[in-house]
Amino acid sequence: MTLGAQPAEERRRTIVVGITGGIAAYKAVGVVRGFVKAGHDVHVVPTESALRFVGLPTLEAISRNPVTTSLYDGVAEVRHVALGQRADLIVVAPTTANTLAKLAAGLSDDLLGTTVLASRAPVLLAPAMHTEMWQHASTVANTALLRSRGVAFIGPESGALTGGDEGPGRMSEPEDVVAAGLALLDGAGLTETSVVVHDLAGETVVVSAGGTREPLDPVRFLGNRSSGRQGLAIAQAAAARGARVVLVAAHLDTDVATEAVATSGVEVVPVGTTAELADAVGKAARAATVVVMAAAVADYRPADVSERKIKKDDSGDGLTLTLVRNPDVLAGLAADAAPGRIVVGFAAETAANREELLDLGRAKAKRKGADLLVLNRVGWTAGFGTPDNEVVVLDRDGSVASEVAGSKRQVADALLDLVLAQRLRERH
Ligand code: CTP
Repeated sequence: MTLGAQPAEERRRTIVVGITGGIAAYKAVGVVRGFVKAGHDVHVVPTESALRFVGLPTLEAISRNPVTTSLYDGVAEVRHVALGQRADLIVVAPTTANTLAKLAAGLSDDLLGTTVLASRAPVLLAPAMHTEMWQHASTVANTALLRSRGVAFIGPESGALTGGDEGPGRMSEPEDVVAAGLALLDGAGLTETSVVVHDLAGETVVVSAGGTREPLDPVRFLGNRSSGRQGLAIAQAAAARGARVVLVAAHLDTDVATEAVATSGVEVVPVGTTAELADAVGKAARAATVVVMAAAVADYRPADVSERKIKKDDSGDGLTLTLVRNPDVLAGLAADAAPGRIVVGFAAETAANREELLDLGRAKAKRKGADLLVLNRVGWTAGFGTPDNEVVVLDRDGSVASEVAGSKRQVADALLDLVLAQRLRERH
């Protein structure tokens, strides 16, 4: 049976719409209406302060369900947890900075807090606040914490804010919030492009990806197994979050290359050798606020590139190649230290265990001087071309800043959260 032919009742789900106290609360009416129109059972849970902005009778009329803010109504049916347990989706629109902080801390001093804590349903937040509040280190940390727990965000958008200010902080439009909520109900991943925070608006992110190839002669090269998948995921995540993105692409697997050129908001600059990559990254980095060196860059190149195909030499058993050092692009960028620019390196190591991985990573972090170094273990079968990744991120002192396992897109988003936190620390 196709979905379209199913009786409406079978598709009807329970959606809780939390509303918190900001000017954007008036937009919540559109969100509630959107979910009701889509055929769902919608329960509105406003905070006390939300009701200063939008009236309870309006919310009851639009949602077609009773509305209360209180923990002490409906005690007999344990309302403070019943709604959370029944919910298939919780959407909080708008989410103020205060509610964001409360949700991050797991506070439950009102019906919205208890409902969220009692629920295992996907949660979608649509933040709305002034730019300064959105970019404050507390809000950034709370957002990153919630995201790491799988909470999805939509917005905020950049634009006019109450009081004539401009910048990121506007709540996303109700139809976009509804579309993102319905995508989550359908089981779409939490970091799907439909659910997006535009927190990198104004940033220029340069990402290098793939493996460089050093020619030996017109038909042969020295290369490596990098697929470029993790680098592309970072470029895509940054673009989705509102950054201007340049992807300096060394050799990519065919499907990765196809996806890269089809990704809107990502400018692809193809390169072959380390020298070409160094040149392209150097140029793009001048305007960059963030540089992520995810490419597997050849440390050596043949001293001579033969003009003609190298022929077998039947007089001996072997062939000796002389290689010369390539410049270290990452170390060069880190040493250059443009004010406020964040430089991220990668290190794929064939370590036997976590301890050895950390030791190798700490030594490399010191040697390279990058702001962040992303470590992962590789081997004959691990780490290349796979959809998932497992990384440890070190800061410039070699301390563990984060450990992330998940899809390459989830790793990308977690890394960008760390980058953003550093960018904001630089700005303050
Ligand atoms: N890198 C670079 N230029 C090079 C080599 C590496 O910019 N010539 C960057 C990579 O893009 C990556 C980081 O440095 O971000 C670490 O790469 P890796 O190959 O692990 O480091 P190496 O310095 O080559 O260390 P090793 O001796 O372990 O090969």
